[in-house]
Amino acid sequence: MIIVNISVVGTGYVGLIQSVGLAEFGFKVVGIDIDERKIKLLNRGITPLYEEGLEELLKKHVGKNLRFTTSYEEIKNSDVIFLCVGTPQDRDGNADLRFIYSAVNSIKRYFDDRYRIIVVKSTVPVGTNRKIKEMLGGCNVDVVSNPEFLREGIALRDFFNPDRIVLGFEDVNNSRPIDIMKEIYKYFLDKRVPFIITDWESAEVIKYAANAFLATKISFINEIAKLIDAVGGDIKTVSKALGLDERIGDKFLNAGIGYGGSCFPKDVKALIKQFESRGIEPKLIKATDEVNEEQIHWFLNKIKRYYGDLNGKTFAVLGLAFKPNTDDLRESRGIKLIDLLLREGSIVKCYDYVEKARENTIERYRLDTSGAYYGYNLYVLDDIYETVKDVDGIIITTEYSQLIDEDWDKIGNLVREKIVFDGRNILDKERIKELGFKYFGVGRG
Ligand SMILES: NC(=O)c1ccc[n+]([C@@H]2O[C@H](COP(=O)([O-])OP(=O)(O)OC[C@H]3O[C@@H](n4cnc5c(N)ncnc54)[C@H](O)[C@@H]3O)[C@@H](O)[C@H]2O)c1
Repeated sequence: MIIVNISVVGTGYVGLIQSVGLAEFGFKVVGIDIDERKIKLLNRGITPLYEEGLEELLKKHVGKNLRFTTSYEEIKNSDVIFLCVGTPQDRDGNADLRFIYSAVNSIKRYFDDRYRIIVVKSTVPVGTNRKIKEMLGGCNVDVVSNPEFLREGIALRDFFNPDRIVLGFEDVNNSRPIDIMKEIYKYFLDKRVPFIITDWESAEVIKYAANAFLATKISFINEIAKLIDAVGGDIKTVSKALGLDERIGDKFLNAGIGYGGSCFPKDVKALIKQFESRGIEPKLIKATDEVNEEQIHWFLNKIKRYYGDLNGKTFAVLGLAFKPNTDDLRESRGIKLIDLLLREGSIVKCYDYVEKARENTIERYRLDTSGAYYGYNLYVLDDIYETVKDVDGIIITTEYSQLIDEDWDKIGNLVREKIVFDGRNILDKERIKELGFKYFGVGRG
């Protein structure tokens, strides 16, 4: 089979990267989304979300071999359909599969006798690919589980340089869908990226296990940081020494105020639910989640211990996105901390290096120009020096390396009190202390 047409359903972070990536490989791609505003922007070559290099690649292909629509009718002409809709957390902590099922029903309406493949890229609990196949009963279709591992902030780089490609099939002896997937991902085969060809269940578990493992590393080092805070020492040195052991590795060992984002928090919780629904208690993964939920409160208490009362104090919160170089505020620790500070009666001035992250914050709190938010005082500023002016303390919430090179002398002259709570352990503690700042990190005093 020669792949002619591909459609990508859901054009958010994953679907948009997939769309432009496949267009770059030379395929004819149609992105389908229910969000009309998004589709209009995309067809004009404008990305509704921030990701480095994405707009350039979108502009290169849109109107040529890449276009976007809200019409599911395009499915009629598609040989391969990538499913990239969101799977957020429901009220009980399970993955909410409403968008998945709604998209599958919309797709099904346009199926005829032609053979097609649905590739599930969304993160879905064990059993979902099987359920999708059942929903498509009677259709000439194969369902492939192809979990996505990209990281926001460096999503394009990850798309073109994946560590592995995981493909789960109903029957690993059925070569038809396997050959088609290898044709689509020939670029990766040529680059000798390892392919894991497996069953649906293993593929589904691989994705959740990968996220839970990384989250566990973060919660582990955050727990060790609490001990270091109590006994003295520097967690950065501890992390470095641990990381030099190649069995441990140096990634995901930076202590801080916990993980956020659109994946780790919800995927860890959804994995816990998948154990529990089968009568198994996931003790370790539950602890990972608990440590993370608690971490931001632990940090807030540290700030409280210093000031006594936070009511009426003014803080500069540096970092709104859940990680550097994205505009994504989902489960951002910075936003969580802002909410907690406002509840304490503090005045919050905040800043992020990514303009779109600042805009999203204004939208999230529905701020007017005076910064009033339900009677609280919250201000989103476009300049870091304006943000730190006359504050009682600076709080770092996102790991921006730009912060290291800021003019801390100038900052010191603008603040009311020279004090930094470094929630990401990004600053050079000794240097900042030499400039007369009091410094508090996570596991380093
Ligand atoms: N964001 C990441 O870094 C990342 C990484 C790996 C995996 N994932 C997984 O990929 C999936 C998508 O995540 P995301 O961050 O791209 O989500 P997102 O919220 O950014 O995008 C989802 C898109 O789907 C669209 N949509 C919803 N219902 C639809 C429907 N019925 N038909 C067509 N479009 C529909 C929405 O309008 C939205 O544009 C999730 O399962 C997530 O867990 C995300």
